[in-house]
Amino acid sequence: MNTISSEDSEELVIEILSTGQKINITRAESIIDALARMGIEVPTSCQSGLCGTCKTRYISGDVDHGDCILSEAEHEEYLTPCISHIKSGTLVLDL
Ligand code: FES
Repeated sequence: MNTISSEDSEELVIEILSTGQKINITRAESIIDALARMGIEVPTSCQSGLCGTCKTRYISGDVDHGDCILSEAEHEEYLTPCISHIKSGTLVLDL
């Protein structure tokens, strides 16, 4: 019998503040890929968390930051969608 932990089965969602648009995302998918599926393009350059080109403000969410460019203080308000993931729940982006 397969057992799925509650963590694995938890729904992860991206919400766009300006439109209320929502999309499901997997833990492994980067935020930029989920946004692309919604038809939302964020400018990117390095796509590895090094340049800050994709820096995006978020309102709330449990973010797994993968970048090397933002400070801890900036991580409270901004994320780099090219390399970042959602850890749990809903991420509300200021887009
Ligand atoms: S594109 Fe460079 S940090 Fe995201």
